[in-house]
Amino acid sequence: MKKAIVIAAIFGLAATISARADDATNNATADSATNNWTADCAKCHGADGKGQTKMGQRLGCRDFTDAKVQADIKDDAAFKALREGLKSDDGKTLMKPFDALSDDQIKGLIAYVHSLKSTAPATK
Ligand code: HEC
Repeated sequence: MKKAIVIAAIFGLAATISARADDATNNATADSATNNWTADCAKCHGADGKGQTKMGQRLGCRDFTDAKVQADIKDDAAFKALREGLKSDDGKTLMKPFDALSDDQIKGLIAYVHSLKSTAPATK
């Protein structure tokens, strides 16, 4: 009798643990673009994408919330910039290649960049 209770308890515990693990994986997928942005991109582009960080101002990051800037960002060019790096016309490195990011993570980040576009009416 005692044994049965112990076994039931173990099964119950195992189910709880695996359910938690599932939750964690789902959250990680949903949030990974945001997390990657914070970890890899925000120091230049800013958490809000406006590029008003020290690094962003020095390197000339554009305001990603600006609809005109958004219209300039083509997904394939952005993908290439993140995969292979981006240099200015005079050969200065603007972005290093993000080797640690998978293709899917890069695509997620590009979608994230587009999501930064301000929905407020243009003021300029
Ligand atoms: C060392 C600073 C720096 C970091 C870190 C950085 N960027 Fe950039 N990024 C720049 C600069 C500078 C430009 C060129 C000016 C601009 O487009 O705002 C640029 C341009 C871009 C562009 C436009 C490319 C195009 O095709 O016009 C995208 C999209 C972009 N970055 C996304 C990201 C993402 C996503 C990350 C994080 C994985 C990231 N950047 C990390 C500095 C940085």
